[in-house]
Amino acid sequence: MSPVSPKSLSPADRAPIRVAMLGCGTVGSEVARLLTEQAGELAARAGAPVELVGIAVRRPDKHPELPAELLTDDAAALVARDDVDVVVELVGGIDPVRSWLLTALNAGKSVVTANKALLAEYSAELFEASDASGADLYFEAAVAGAIPLLRPLRESLAGDRITRVMGIVNGTTNYILSAMDATGAGYAETLDEASRLGYAEADPTADVDGYDAASKAAILASLAFHSRVTAKDVHREGIADVTASDLAAARTLGRTVKLLAICERVTADDGTESVSARVHPVMIPRSHQLAGVGGAFNAVYVEADAAGELMFYGQGAGGAPTASAVLGDLVAVARNQVLGGRGPRESAHAALPVRPMGQTPTRYHVSLDVADRAGVLAQVAQAFAAHGVSIAAVRQRDANDTASLVVVTHLAPDAALQSTVDEIAKLDVVHDVVSVMRVEGEDA
Ligand code: NDP
Ligand code: HSE
Repeated sequence: MSPVSPKSLSPADRAPIRVAMLGCGTVGSEVARLLTEQAGELAARAGAPVELVGIAVRRPDKHPELPAELLTDDAAALVARDDVDVVVELVGGIDPVRSWLLTALNAGKSVVTANKALLAEYSAELFEASDASGADLYFEAAVAGAIPLLRPLRESLAGDRITRVMGIVNGTTNYILSAMDATGAGYAETLDEASRLGYAEADPTADVDGYDAASKAAILASLAFHSRVTAKDVHREGIADVTASDLAAARTLGRTVKLLAICERVTADDGTESVSARVHPVMIPRSHQLAGVGGAFNAVYVEADAAGELMFYGQGAGGAPTASAVLGDLVAVARNQVLGGRGPRESAHAALPVRPMGQTPTRYHVSLDVADRAGVLAQVAQAFAAHGVSIAAVRQRDANDTASLVVVTHLAPDAALQSTVDEIAKLDVVHDVVSVMRVEGEDA
């Protein structure tokens, strides 16, 4: 680490903060551009020049736009160099990135990363290394791209008690669901269109199967509830099974479908607390603030005891928006190095257990095609009652000898709702289970 400059020096005269950047793709190329174009302003804000001293990529020959003398394909060697103060990691994935960042932190080099997959599994290990050496670990870009969300959770709301974080944290799936809602098209053809337009990646699995959102939910729950929550603790369902019928069923009831990350602090009757973290499609009322979030945008709703309800909205992905968050972290690290301070450490003191999804209270919307004859409604209602699930509303529409039946429940343990649906599907009078979707954003 470079020696701390005397505080009386002007920023330009101070020893530079020397940055190694790992990865120079969609996000990294924008970070490199902004570091160059805004060098003077960044130095003034950081308190010292921020100088890019090396860039590691997989294929240096594919980057004629970058200064050749900065490029290397040996990220491990770049991280180990004596003239590196800060490592900015924009490669993604777990291995070998994990070992590079541990090496950096163990050597007292601060780390800025956008890597949600790594943080959702290994943040405890990374924080331990950062604590041992006193280096900073910042990761604002890992959740919701440009939106300042993690710093409010880690710092601005550190004096409050957060009870819920709920939001749209994946732009690709939000784009697909918004398009399905607008056009009435099915999932597969909308995914094809999203790929053609460049919204979905060549391999969209991490997005559409909910892995990306689950990693983000783990990070959000950990920060909000001062506990360790990993991606494995997050109940995850993607959008591949969302059909045009689900969207149509939602529309007739004044609702729409969104893939939400929902992190809650749950207090049991005996006062014990736990955390629930889940990612799955939900129906929400069209009047809900999250329903109006279209395309690839992200929005996150935070509820805290004293602050009340807060909403964070903006671009959750893309090179320049994500680079904005990375540079904000880089300025924070540089300021800490100039002034001799440290950023926030891991805050996991609450150590709340994670409540299994089956015990988490949810509400279901169930749309059925049933035989239109006496006693059918009673049979369906009996199945709900047998599992202790209370019905909030029933709506029936007749068509020839079949009736379309929509049941919306009150809150019940998710496992009881699942079992109810399994039993209903087996009833002779039920011709088809058209749509089953959890409901959020309205009174239970
Ligand atoms: P890209 O795939 O566009 O870029 C990855 C970069 O990493 C490339 O420059 C690649 O080199 C380099 N790289 C890959 N393997 C190695 C290696 N073994 N050694 C050195 N360099 C390597 O990724 P993104 O920019 O999209 O994403 C980067 C990170 O930011 C990820 O963690 C991602 O989850 C996160 N993020 C991305 C967002 C986005 O909108 N794209 C939004 C928020 C977070 P080469 O160029 O030679 O192939
Ligand atoms: N693939 C992610 C998304 C990128 O679609 O939101 C941002 O993390």
